Amino acid sequence: RKGQLGPGDIRARKGGEPLVCLTAYTTPMARLVDAHCDIMLVGDSLGMVLHGLPSTVGVTMEMMILHGKAVARGCSRACMVVDMPFGSYEEGPRQAFRNAARLMAETGCQAVKLEGGLHMAETVAFLVARGIPVMGHVGLTPQSVNTLGGYKVQGRSQDEADRVAGDAAALAQAGAFAVVLEKLPETLGRRITQDIAVPTIGIGAGLDCDGQVLVVDDMLGLFADFRPKFVKRYAELGRDADSAIAAYAAEVRTRRFPAAEHVFGEGKPA
Ligand code: KIV
Ligand code: NA
Repeated sequence: RKGQLGPGDIRARKGGEPLVCLTAYTTPMARLVDAHCDIMLVGDSLGMVLHGLPSTVGVTMEMMILHGKAVARGCSRACMVVDMPFGSYEEGPRQAFRNAARLMAETGCQAVKLEGGLHMAETVAFLVARGIPVMGHVGLTPQSVNTLGGYKVQGRSQDEADRVAGDAAALAQAGAFAVVLEKLPETLGRRITQDIAVPTIGIGAGLDCDGQVLVVDDMLGLFADFRPKFVKRYAELGRDADSAIAAYAAEVRTRRFPAAEHVFGEGKPA
């Protein structure tokens, strides 16, 4: 759409004013995010956040397409990126192209994101050469939770730090327009940001990244039980929703709701 930020605009912001990114999975949340953010990510975190799955491993193309379509209806300004789900791209460049093209065609998103570093560089180059802008994602890559053995901070040892830095560099070299850095020590976030020519978008990777991303439901405080260190809660919507639902339940049980103003009379329509 005219006036919408594209992957090229995002890339050009390297080293400039920090890029603001949040997830969105629905039309109303997309409208709220669109008013203030540069990048809107339809993250596969929707599997856990919306569908109650234990990890992102069970997320499907159909789920990403359904939520991507909903988000597109509320996104007019931000650059819209859709996550490629686990199993939709790892076999090789051709499988990745087929599924990325489907995500773009069916949702109207401007770019896709996929997880993995050096071993995904060939795939990223293949997609970019064929018209699909790609955002990378290194460090903690949640789709690999079963081989990583949990959601731990990555790159703490020198060897691991070098490996993650090499991953980010390989993606930038392959043509990714930005790279998400998840759960890295602040020093490594800074090093990679200085090293690579495209913007880094951090989540738990420190202040020096070229931008920041959070899961919108996390920063709105919609969950009582998920409070990782890197999430700042800007609201307590979960607590507010709990009080509102409790108040409704009490008023229904005591016949205080509906009140006169919520009831239709028999005269003219109000
Ligand atoms: O799925 C997601 O929400 C993400 C971001 C947190 C980067 O990948
Ligand atoms: Na994701």
